[in-house]
Amino acid sequence: MENYERLGVFYLGRTYDLKNKQVQEELLLYDSKDLVTHAVCVGMTGSGKTGLCIGLLEEAAIDGIPAIVIDPKGDLPNLLLTFPELRAEDFAPWVNEGDARKKGIEREEYGREQAELWKRGLASWEQDGSRIKRLRESADFTVFTPGSTAGIPVSILSSFAAPPQSLIDDAELLGDRISTTVTSLLGLLDIEADPIKSREHILLSTIFGAAWAEGRDLDLAALIQAIQTPPVFKVGVLDIESFYPADERFELAMALNNLLAAPGFSTWMEGEPLEVDRLLYNAEGRPRVSIFSIAHLSESERMFFVSLLLNQVLGWMRGQSGTSSLRAILYMDEIYGYFPPVANPPSKVPLLTLLKQGRAYGVGVVLATQNPVDLDYKGLSNTGTWFIGRLQTERDKARVLEGLEGVAAGAGSRFDRRAMEETLAGLGKRIFLLNNVHEDEPVAFETRWVMSYLRGPLTREQIKALMAPRKAGSRDVSPAERTSVGARAPAAEARRGVARAVGTPERPVLPPNVPQHFIPLRGNPGPGEQLVYRPTVLAAGTVHYFDRKRNVDCSEELVSIVPLLGSGPVAVDWADATEIEIEAADLESMPMETARYGEFPPAAAKKTSYTVWKKEFTDWVYRNRKVELLKSPTLKVFSRADESERDFRIRLSQSAREGRDEVLGKLKKKYGAKMASLQERIRRAEQAVAREVEQSKQQKLQTAISFGATLLGAMVGRKAASRSSVGRATIAARGVSRSMKESQDVDRARETVESHRQKLEALEAEFLAETEKVKERFDPQSTELESVVVRPKKKDIAVRMVGLGWAPYWETAEGVSTPAWV
Ligand SMILES: Nc1ncnc2c1ncn2[C@@H]1O[C@H](COP(=O)(O)OP(=O)(O)OP(=O)(O)O)[C@@H](O)[C@H]1O
Ligand SMILES: [Mg+2]
Repeated sequence: MENYERLGVFYLGRTYDLKNKQVQEELLLYDSKDLVTHAVCVGMTGSGKTGLCIGLLEEAAIDGIPAIVIDPKGDLPNLLLTFPELRAEDFAPWVNEGDARKKGIEREEYGREQAELWKRGLASWEQDGSRIKRLRESADFTVFTPGSTAGIPVSILSSFAAPPQSLIDDAELLGDRISTTVTSLLGLLDIEADPIKSREHILLSTIFGAAWAEGRDLDLAALIQAIQTPPVFKVGVLDIESFYPADERFELAMALNNLLAAPGFSTWMEGEPLEVDRLLYNAEGRPRVSIFSIAHLSESERMFFVSLLLNQVLGWMRGQSGTSSLRAILYMDEIYGYFPPVANPPSKVPLLTLLKQGRAYGVGVVLATQNPVDLDYKGLSNTGTWFIGRLQTERDKARVLEGLEGVAAGAGSRFDRRAMEETLAGLGKRIFLLNNVHEDEPVAFETRWVMSYLRGPLTREQIKALMAPRKAGSRDVSPAERTSVGARAPAAEARRGVARAVGTPERPVLPPNVPQHFIPLRGNPGPGEQLVYRPTVLAAGTVHYFDRKRNVDCSEELVSIVPLLGSGPVAVDWADATEIEIEAADLESMPMETARYGEFPPAAAKKTSYTVWKKEFTDWVYRNRKVELLKSPTLKVFSRADESERDFRIRLSQSAREGRDEVLGKLKKKYGAKMASLQERIRRAEQAVAREVEQSKQQKLQTAISFGATLLGAMVGRKAASRSSVGRATIAARGVSRSMKESQDVDRARETVESHRQKLEALEAEFLAETEKVKERFDPQSTELESVVVRPKKKDIAVRMVGLGWAPYWETAEGVSTPAWV
């Protein structure tokens, strides 16, 4: 039964026979790839939408697909209530006390009941604690509470930072981004602004536009400044003062300032930054399900936050490479008010863009709502998947039919409105109609039992309790950050290892054939500090790394210095070299005036010394410089030179998914065709049997094996079956044989059916064996990485210069010395 695991299909439930009101054996396996054309989930309150979508998010997590979840109602933190052991005491703290009271029982007792209910529920959908365990191990689940410290708070500071270059370069996207940011910000100030007419909107947009075009970040403080002293003198043809006089601008600045100063607003500025890459993967590269609970916010705050988040997702998305497989999910539980048909709230534009462009980047948007009337269905006409639950009003039904009709027209398929109307009328709780443009026909199904305990909205205290262990833990530091801290260490060393005495005011006189360079200063001296230049050997060059097989072709610029100490003969040891972050072209040829000079070894005045040092430097580079790569032996992919292990692992899992989806697609095609032809033969053989047998009641073709009950059937059956017009094909071999007359003709016909049935079983076995191989080959968890080192060839080390480098230090009379170039 676990055969579908890790095959890129989401186990959402079982097909449902609407006529006989009966759930069937056939699994409803949804192809994760199909989600890149997005999904809408509609149904009246209590129809099971959130249950369905939680199920979908659980499946995605098990497949290693991260998600960003926007939760205006508060049900989604239930995703953290997963108890592999399904014990009563696991459930008890989380049960709804009101429900227990209504039943007249204690919390503990109710916990036991709920644990039992969940155990039974899961078992009837062939799931158990071990699957819950797998779910928990597959991803990190976090509840964020913007503007509140109940869960993990979110810092919105970075949201005003300049968007990535790929977005800045797209004038239309940049315009959208600016406009929605400004509208949502003004919304927070209770200013309802028309982007075209409102002065506030035009001014703020101009400020954002000017900063972002230069790649400059903004924050609220800088914005307040800029409102008072705008970066432009004219808006359109008017000069700024007549367009929006200074004293009136001051009022706007004050309003923003009051917002900043308001008690509680500081919580918007602390916590995890709203950086999508981090929201999707943790520091180790594990997928995350980041749930943004916004139920506690006011309406304008919600709109403000949702628009910011959507904009961030859009910016991140545009920086990704293209893919045909699902990469991440954006789920919004109750879309009411954020995507309306007529109005234009700031959330609508980024959502529309995500729906239009997400497909190319593997970003699947899933939107749920009770009221289809509140959806901009034109924006949804390209949505590939519709989950339609029980609808309440005729108006809702009409709107859904209208939407489906639009989808069918877009896909060029036919649409039977009457039949669909009838189907919709028959849907009940947890029964949904799946209309997927990637499938031939809609199919009704019952949602599987979810692994997460659906207790309903969590209280603030409960969210606090859930996230407390997380807050106690260390802050998320990415490996990239860690190495960059490490990389600064040599400078610190240089700081320590410098001689104490403050030198002489005379610069040593050197022969003209010894090149001299002065490292430029950064910053200013502290009190009592004096500028001293100390002699170093300075070497600059380029190292090229090339390895065709490993796809390495990169260069690094090196500018290194080694101190020249003492007055006697000097041996330069390049192992003591410090890399300085200054380009060779920025070195200066003259010192600062009033500087003093450190002790100077005579060897440094001889041209011949530098010839030796140059050779030593080249040798040192050759022996010590390297690029370290990671390799995935199974996928035969190397990391890029500038890629961290975390990012490499994330990339690997995506390419593993792509590989898997491709192979599976081929398998499905191959087996689908074989299966369809076998089904057709069985159908004919059954007809032959039927002809030979009296039309007795029992002989009515009963189900012995339903194709759908097998993995092959569930993965390729629906399409194959509908194509060969067998419908829900059943093999009646066994049933038939029992009721069959002992005539020879019947025997022969029966044998034919039986032999086809065996072929089908063999086909199933073969399919299973092949899918097993796919699973192993593309399981990113099992991927161990090898370390690979690429060293430069001697000829690829180009030393451009080796000369005397004067390194500036700030020094006090007590001999404390600080490098003045960092
Ligand atoms: N897949 C499921 N597994 C177990 N229980 C479920 C499932 N789906 C729904 N339920 C039960 O039905 C209740 C209502 O379902 P759900 O919350 O999903 O409805 P909804 O359509 O999201 O309603 P609303 O529009 O009010 O949010 C849940 O609280 C839960 O008790
Ligand atoms: Mg719901």
